[in-house]
Formats: sequence, structure tokens, C-alpha cells
Amino acid sequence: MTAIIEARGLSAGYGKVVIVRDLDLSIEPGEIVALLGPNGAGKTTTLMTLAGALTPLGGDVELFGRPTTAPLHKRVQSGLGVIGEERTVLMGLTVAENLRVCRSDTARALELFPELEAHLHRKVGLLSGGQQQMLALARVLSRNPSVILADELSLGLAPVIVKRLLQALRAAADTGVGVLLVEQHVREALAIADRVYVLQRGRVVLSGQAAEIADRVGDLQASYFAADAEHDPIESDEVTA
Ligand SMILES: Nc1ncnc2c1ncn2[C@@H]1O[C@H](COP(=O)(O)OP(=O)(O)O)[C@@H](O)[C@H]1O
Ligand SMILES: [Mg+2]
Repeated sequence: MTAIIEARGLSAGYGKVVIVRDLDLSIEPGEIVALLGPNGAGKTTTLMTLAGALTPLGGDVELFGRPTTAPLHKRVQSGLGVIGEERTVLMGLTVAENLRVCRSDTARALELFPELEAHLHRKVGLLSGGQQQMLALARVLSRNPSVILADELSLGLAPVIVKRLLQALRAAADTGVGVLLVEQHVREALAIADRVYVLQRGRVVLSGQAAEIADRVGDLQASYFAADAEHDPIESDEVTA
């Protein structure tokens, strides 16, 4: 199957500072690909480069099978949905206004998250963090994207909300949407993902099927997901061929 979005030999970073090196990563229709790794590993840098918000320092990003240098807003027009690390909703506007300004289908958004209906005319700044993220996800999903890049969607939220948000992404993937999921909730991410890449210091140190990596998550937790960046670099360890 053709990947919806793909990084080929991608290097990414800021100015002359290379953060992510030689990354090969693809997302196919209908799959959730989890991008995991400790703080500072380069997950956000990767996601923003795939989104077109950062210019690659080397290699290519391909969208729908063709190399692209299009800026973020063009990629969004062609079917990319992005939920960045910063809360992407407009706090001073109401829920309804938030949906309107990004031309979301309000009925569809409420179908996905009926929880938002009672708050349609409230300012988003007055909602809970979970409701704000439901809105962020509803805005993206109700525009029928081909692929969604989600960065720490569930940061700081209660477990029940984390589950709700991740299940909404799984449901979208089951209709054919490709999803890149950057998550700190490793077990929850592995439970809904199809494939996984683990980044450490800007390199993929582990990749494979989510189910296989989930079986090993106990051993992997300390070496791959710890926030401690003092560990020696770990050699690449391909779980599946
Ligand atoms: N705007 C920036 N300018 C320079 N360096 C940055 C910038 N943003 C992030 N970095 C650096 O890039 C590295 C990776 O950051 P990031 O991609 O945010 O990691 P992650 O999302 O995995 O926590 C960090 O060392 C961080 O300090
Ligand atoms: Mg990040």
C-alpha cells in the first residue's frame, strides 16, 4: 500500500542544529503509528517537519507518494490534520466559533464528541483541559483528513479522557485515516497503535509491531522511555523484519 506520508532519510532540526538524523518512517491508510521516546528525543521536531512547519535539513517528506516542500497550510488543505503540542484551540472564542473558523462540520464534531454539545456557546478558555482537547480533535476529525499528526494529545489529562481521545483516533484509523501519535502514555499508545517507532537522541532505536513491543514494554521502559538522557546510545534494534 502507498504511504500517505513518509519520511525518507529525513534530517530535521533548527538552523544548523541537526536534531533528528536519517529518519525513515511511513504511515499507511488505516494505521496508527506511535512515535515514542524520552523528552528531547526529537518527536515534536519530527512531527513538525512532517507537517511542513519546519524545513527538512536533509532527505525528503513525501505526501501521497510525492515529495513535497509545501508549507503547513497547503498540507492541511490537501488532507493533513495537525494537533500540535501547544493547545490549538482558540481560548477566547466559543466552541461553536472554534468549529466555524476552521470550517469544521459542527454536526459531525458533535457526533464524535457529544460531550461538547452542552458547551457550544461557552468560551473555550472556561472548559476543562479534556474538553479543550476533545474540541481540538473534533476540529481535525470533522474535516475528514487523510492523515492526522497528534503531538501529546493527552498530556496532563485524566486516564478516562486519555482513553476517550485515543479511542476516537482508533475509530478514525478504522475508517482509513492514517495517524501519527506522539505520546507519553506508552502503554495506552501501544494498546491502540499498529506500529511503533522509538526515537532516542534523534535516531530510531527500535521499531516494529505495537503488539510485539507491548509485550516487552516492561524491559523497554527503563532503557528507552526514561527521561534520563545520560544513558549510552543504544544500537538499532529492529524487532520485526
Ligand atoms: N525551536 C528550537 N530551537 C532549537 N532547538 C530546539 C527547538 N525546539 C526544540 N529544540 C531542541 O530539539 C531537541 C528535541 O526537541 P523535541 O523535538 O521537542 O523533543 P521531544 O518532542 O521528543 O520532547 C531538544 O534538545 C530541544 O532542546
Ligand atoms: Mg515534544
